Amino acid sequence: MFSINWDSAVNNELNELLRVTAGQAYSALEKTLSKRESGKIGFMDLVFREKEISRVKKLAAKTAKEFDTLIVLGIGGSSLGGKTINAALMNNFDYNRKKVFYADNVDPDYFHELISSLDLKKTAFNVISKSGSTAETMAQFLVVYDLLCKKLGKEEAVKRIIMTTDPKSGALRPLEKSIGFETLEIPQNVGGRFSVLSDVGLFPSAFSGVDVDSLIKGAASVLETGTGKDMEKNPVLKYSLLKYLYCQKGFMNSVMMPYSTKLFELSAWYVQLWAESLGKKGMGQTPIPAIGATDQHSQLQLFMEGPRDKFITFIGVENSRNKTEIPCFEQEIDAFDYLSGHTMQELIRCEMLSTQRALFENGVPSVRIELPELNAENVGALFMFFEMAVAITGDLMEIDAFNQPGVELSKKYTYQMMGRKGY
Ligand code: PA5
Repeated sequence: MFSINWDSAVNNELNELLRVTAGQAYSALEKTLSKRESGKIGFMDLVFREKEISRVKKLAAKTAKEFDTLIVLGIGGSSLGGKTINAALMNNFDYNRKKVFYADNVDPDYFHELISSLDLKKTAFNVISKSGSTAETMAQFLVVYDLLCKKLGKEEAVKRIIMTTDPKSGALRPLEKSIGFETLEIPQNVGGRFSVLSDVGLFPSAFSGVDVDSLIKGAASVLETGTGKDMEKNPVLKYSLLKYLYCQKGFMNSVMMPYSTKLFELSAWYVQLWAESLGKKGMGQTPIPAIGATDQHSQLQLFMEGPRDKFITFIGVENSRNKTEIPCFEQEIDAFDYLSGHTMQELIRCEMLSTQRALFENGVPSVRIELPELNAENVGALFMFFEMAVAITGDLMEIDAFNQPGVELSKKYTYQMMGRKGY
């Protein structure tokens, strides 16, 4: 399991404040848990869907037998989690494996380039939309369905499309019966950005060979510790309170900085989770995606000497699968001799520890999450960790972390401009 290192990242005043305000965190946790109990929120219970998970695995295995490539048509919460799993756990340079691509925009050139590169006979499509009305996803679906029908005929087109949507409502659900699309589900009480451990993230992952049981196992173990009432034994609670307190003190930006290229998509997933859940009523922290060590040569200058308004979450991988030794060079050269005999694993780790230390000495607070290794269990654990943290932080801030009223207006204007009836 993963561990969280809190040492030397937070100033003493905050450590003391954490102790004094622990009661506030406990009551926020109570609120979150009572929403779970009443059935208002369902993301924590995604780890208990044995029957559904087994159906997903079967359908993914069948699809993988028939097709080489899966294109996910979806946006926001319907794509970011799956993308994260794909990037973190699959070898993206292995061109012989089952391929999964996420077409999460309506950039016409990008979409055209993607679609026209496909061997349609060997490609399946997973249309993911809880509401069944998201303009971008529906546009993608219409283009793809039309193309498949024209090139392969309706029967073959239907075989290639798997829908993932709300179990009862929305415009896609009736198509299961009327057209015959295979259809997976997103439980009604699970919002898009909390849906990665539902069929949304599991189906594409299982298709590409990810061990989805381990993802769920990791998430379940965080659920167990994350519901505990003892702050010292509940890192989720401590993390939530810490971020909340720093936000109160003016640290309005929340940087997510994994020292792993394979975890960069996690930063994007986190950005959506944190922004869409907490950016309300004039409050919220601006999430900033970063990547170590790359951003040491980019954003770090700002983090170090810019406004003191950033809280950093580092994520380190203690044991990477490949250490990648750095060999000696044929000549002695001071500028890089010292690297020889070490590994890239050592280098990236030293860079993370050094950056955390330097930032701390400069008054920039941070937390470091350590993954013993980058595997499905730990990725599942990270999802549950941040989802629970955002829910608890929402309750600390006294806002509803589960709605997104601020994105509706622009959607309405789009509908109006595109001529949708009633707008
Ligand atoms: O978190 C959310 O609810 C949103 O980001 C949605 O996931 C996104 O808008 C896509 O919605 P839908 O799945 O209904 O197409």
